Parts: sequence; structure tokens; C-alpha cells
Amino acid sequence: MPTIEIDGRKLEVEAGKMVIQAADEAGIYIPRFCYHSKLSVAANCRMCMVEIEKAPKPMPACATPITDGMKIFTFSPLAVEAQKGTMEFLLINHPLDCPVCDQGGECPLQDQAMGYGKDVSRFTENKRVVKDKDIGPLIATEMTRCIHCTRCVRFGQEVAGMMELGAIGRGEHMEIGTYVGSSVDSELSGNMVDLCPVGALTNKPYRFTARSWELAAEFGVSPHDCVGSNLEIHSLRNVVKRVLPAENDEINECWLSDRDRFSYQSFNSGDRLLVPKIREAGKWIETDWETALRYTVQGIRAVLQHHSAQQVGALVTPTATLEEFHLTQ
Ligand code: SF4
Ligand code: FES
Repeated sequence: MPTIEIDGRKLEVEAGKMVIQAADEAGIYIPRFCYHSKLSVAANCRMCMVEIEKAPKPMPACATPITDGMKIFTFSPLAVEAQKGTMEFLLINHPLDCPVCDQGGECPLQDQAMGYGKDVSRFTENKRVVKDKDIGPLIATEMTRCIHCTRCVRFGQEVAGMMELGAIGRGEHMEIGTYVGSSVDSELSGNMVDLCPVGALTNKPYRFTARSWELAAEFGVSPHDCVGSNLEIHSLRNVVKRVLPAENDEINECWLSDRDRFSYQSFNSGDRLLVPKIREAGKWIETDWETALRYTVQGIRAVLQHHSAQQVGALVTPTATLEEFHLTQ
């Protein structure tokens, strides 16, 4: 195992790892936007610059493999100057609209701007503006905020298996969009919202209904995807506001299907049946469980006077438990 040194700490690291992976395993923080442990390395945001002994310039930690004897400095004056320079470039075009951005309070760019940004911008020219796109009912876009990290694009290609978002144009004219279809239809699309390190892609049904710090989280297990993905249910004053994946590398890693992420909306739907109802003279009347069950038994008995038990069927929701199916039988 190669031995390296990060900020004076000697570490033994598996060969082939990148500097950022070695630092993460040792609990040493390196800022980043485009790097994600479950996606390929793009090295396009340049936020993870570190100083490496004998290297002529700062190097991106996410794309620099470790070598034996390497000495890395994550907060030397050269590294910090490079990180601050990158932040200044990123903020040239990113709007400073955190108070009205749904990502505010849980935004890597906001957090890292606090650590590496300046109080005052030297850029006095106009910021670029990118027209918003309507990419479907689940993801809201504010593409002026996009920093082109391509996490959403790589997720589509590498995890969801459908390249629905892509980058068009170059330099300042680069835009992320759906250049093939007009909407994102993947059943895993909500993960792009989680991956976006800024407020360019936000959760459409949830946005502006709560702030992240107001929410209470409960652990849960997915009812829909048949693998038991782990999830977190976030609620505000006992109303479920959103569902996010809970990391479990053995099952769902850090992903969640849209069905599990967005189906919570039925909890608060006006169409939801909350009390039993019986139909009398063509009208639905609310009643209590005792009356409804008695009514059901009478109905089944009446049917069985003219039909055999084999001729009677029942419709049961697929989300019922096995025990409930058995009892229905
Ligand atoms: S939309 Fe978000 S995730 Fe996609 S490239 Fe832009 S900043 Fe990155
Ligand atoms: S995190 Fe390394 S270049 Fe973006």
C-alpha cells in the first residue's frame, strides 16, 4: 500500500485511489462540486485544488491519483488561493439569490461560498441569464444558477441509463438542457435534484413549502420499489413535506426511485379516503368502521345466497400486507 502524507498526516492508502478519496477516508475536508463518489470523475469545477509537493501548480484532488511518498497540502496558502480563485469565478455568473432559492440552507455552493468566497464581488459587469426549461412535473429549473458540474448529466448516463440531460454550447454559452426530448422521464429523475450542488434543479412538488432546517426527519423503508430502499421522511408540523433517500450501500446506495420519493403527496391529497363510506340510495355517506364492516358482511351474505364462494372475488390494493391478503381470502 502506498504511503502518502496529507497536511502532515501519514496515511496508507490503497493504490489507484484519487487524492480526494484518500482525504475523505481520513476525514480531511476538501471542497468540491462536480466530484461524487458514485459517479465518474469529470474534474470540471476545479474547486478541489490542492498543493502537491514538486507539482508546478495546484492539482484537482478528484482527478489526481495518489503515488507513493506523495505530500499533499489542502490548506496551504497556494491551495487556498486556488480554491478561493475558483469560487470567485463560479460566483461571477451565479446569482446571489439564496434568500429566495429553495436550496438555501442545504446548498454546497452557499456553504462553500461562506468558506472560500469574498464579502464583495470584484465583478461589476452583468451576470449571464439562462432561460428556464420546463422539464416535467417533478423537477423545477432555475438554469441561471447552474455551475455546469455535469453531475445531473453523468447520473443520467451512468446510473439511470438514459441520457436525458446534456450540455450544449461552450464557455459562457454552455447550457444544461434536454436536447433530445423535452422532459426528463426517467423513473429515477429525483436523484438529479439531490445531486445538483446549487439550486438549478429543485424538487417541484416540495419547493417553497418549507425550509430544510424546519423539518423533522424520520427513518423509513420504501413501500414501492420491492428492494426496501432506505429513506428519510421529512415533515413540518406533522405534515409530510418530502422524502429523501437514506444512504445504505447494501441496498439503494444513495438513490431513490421517483415513486418512493414523490408518492407522499397522496397522504395530503383531497381525494384520500380517511373514513369508511357506505352507499345508500345512490349517495356516499360517511360512517364508522363498525357500521361499515356490518354492512359489508350483510352484502357478502346476500351474494352468497345466490352464488358459491368460488364465484366471489375481491379487489385488494397492492400495497396491502401479506397478512391482509390472507385475511381477505
Ligand atoms: S443543473 Fe445542477 S447538477 Fe446539473 S450541471 Fe447544473 S449545477 Fe450541475
Ligand atoms: S471536485 Fe474536483 S474538479 Fe470538481
